[in-house]
Amino acid sequence: MSAQASELRSPDWFRSVVFYELPIRSFFDSNGDGIGDLPGVRAKLDYLTDLGVGGIWLLPFYRSPWRDDGYDISNHYEIDPRFGTVADFDALIGDAHGRGLRVIGDLVTNHVSDEHPWFQEARRSRDAPHRSWFLWSDTGTEFSRARRMFPDYEPSNWTFDEVAGQYYFHRFFATQPDLNYDTPAVHDEMFRVARFWLGHGLDGFRCDAAPYLYKREGTTCQSLPETHRFWHDLHAMMESEFPGTVLVSEANQTIAETVAYFDHGEEFPMVLHFPIMPNFYLGLAENNPKRVLDVLRATLPSAPENGAWAYFLRNHDELSLEQASEDEKALFFRYFPLPPGARVHNGVRRRLAPLVGGEDGSVLLLTALILGLPGSPFLYYGDEIGMGDRIDLPDRDAVRTPMQWENAPSAGFSTLPPDALTRPLVTDPPFAPAARNVSDQELNTRSLLWRVRTLLRIRAAHSAIFSSNLYEGIDLGGAPVLGFWRPNAEYSVLCLYNFATEPQNGSIALPGSVWASPVELLRGGLASTVADHTFRYRLAPRGFSWTMFLARRPPAPRPSAS
Ligand code: GLC
Ligand code: CA
Repeated sequence: MSAQASELRSPDWFRSVVFYELPIRSFFDSNGDGIGDLPGVRAKLDYLTDLGVGGIWLLPFYRSPWRDDGYDISNHYEIDPRFGTVADFDALIGDAHGRGLRVIGDLVTNHVSDEHPWFQEARRSRDAPHRSWFLWSDTGTEFSRARRMFPDYEPSNWTFDEVAGQYYFHRFFATQPDLNYDTPAVHDEMFRVARFWLGHGLDGFRCDAAPYLYKREGTTCQSLPETHRFWHDLHAMMESEFPGTVLVSEANQTIAETVAYFDHGEEFPMVLHFPIMPNFYLGLAENNPKRVLDVLRATLPSAPENGAWAYFLRNHDELSLEQASEDEKALFFRYFPLPPGARVHNGVRRRLAPLVGGEDGSVLLLTALILGLPGSPFLYYGDEIGMGDRIDLPDRDAVRTPMQWENAPSAGFSTLPPDALTRPLVTDPPFAPAARNVSDQELNTRSLLWRVRTLLRIRAAHSAIFSSNLYEGIDLGGAPVLGFWRPNAEYSVLCLYNFATEPQNGSIALPGSVWASPVELLRGGLASTVADHTFRYRLAPRGFSWTMFLARRPPAPRPSAS
């Protein structure tokens, strides 16, 4: 077995993998109907392997009326017909696996579409078999402590249904009635859904809205013990029936509440690191990584030996500031100039590149940071080429525009003309396909794409270092530089990130365990010298470096002459 294959079979394979999140609908249209599809993703697998990602997270692909981009499922066992068929799905998984790529999907357990036959049947009579699959009320006043997820759109978590003659509960849009987990059949059905797609070869799930399954009066109805038990049981089932598959939690909560989803490795092997994410941006705003450091100190020890924090800079939703304090929000909004209407749901519907003013240096700094930390980085499609957004589109559609493959009409995404696409292209000149596209950046060694690819290659070449859990923070005496060691028995990598917009010079006393002969893993305008076992670094504005030092080993004992 090759080293790579054996790594992929180990129970914590995911730490050596960089994941790529993509909406099928916006990636590549293979049949010219203006909508991205499964054969389209399959046609672009070479692009993904060239980029160096090892895993794909497919956003929802199930049958859905698309009131919430497929997070409103009307049949869990069918592929949305515009994306293709189950056979197309199987072919995609087969090809991906053939290239050593893992594929995870979205498991949406909290709610279904109001067009789902279960809800349609349930609302018609109080005796309907599926009535108890949903939460009903005559007053719509229960669970008043449960927070509303889409406060800009939904005035209440309860909506009156004329057909049912009662209110039904929904944490998200009114078109997404919540399931009632006190009905055992609901629990069983979700296990059936998970088994079905794992049976089709999925390598795991990102679990949507993980904290909200069970509701109890008088509580916030989030992260209840019953809900943890559900995930715990699902994990146990997958470990025994589908070994090597993974679960990633979406829990956008406080640090303490988020960490609990690991449950020491018994519940979620991977937890999306919502608490740290806004701090990456606040680090840029303050030209100082101190908030990032504080969160690392508070959260790195919580990832279990067999688990991983899942880092991300952006995703398909708004950049959530839900957990940020009022001061932090004020700092964010002061620093990042936002066009009118960019704020939504307690967050910001912008992509990475436009947020940082189209400046590749800041994109690379943060990307290199999530690639360097212990855990698993998730990249959002298009951020590797610095794609922009469209604030004029409704809600989070702003950040879900077609992938920009070429400088061509419809950006090489589809053969249909731009005005026939169901989701329009970015038109803002600095971010539009003419300025940012895959094929031009592939030819330019100074492009963002080329440099992101290089980072992924280096991370893969030093997988033993970067996929371990070992991490030692470095005290840089208040310098606006984040520094840490990624050590192992053979060698260590020193990672440094300058959050300031001024160059930084400084020195680091080398530990006795390494030889004082550095090898730069990146050539990024860094000059370093070593004297007296002290490493002197020079970092460009928003520059970063990864430097390797061989381990000093005790001399091997001489064979005794006997
Ligand atoms: C998650 C998804 C989001 C969706 C919501 C409701 O937060 O990321 O896109 O709207 O769940 O399913
Ligand atoms: Ca299509």
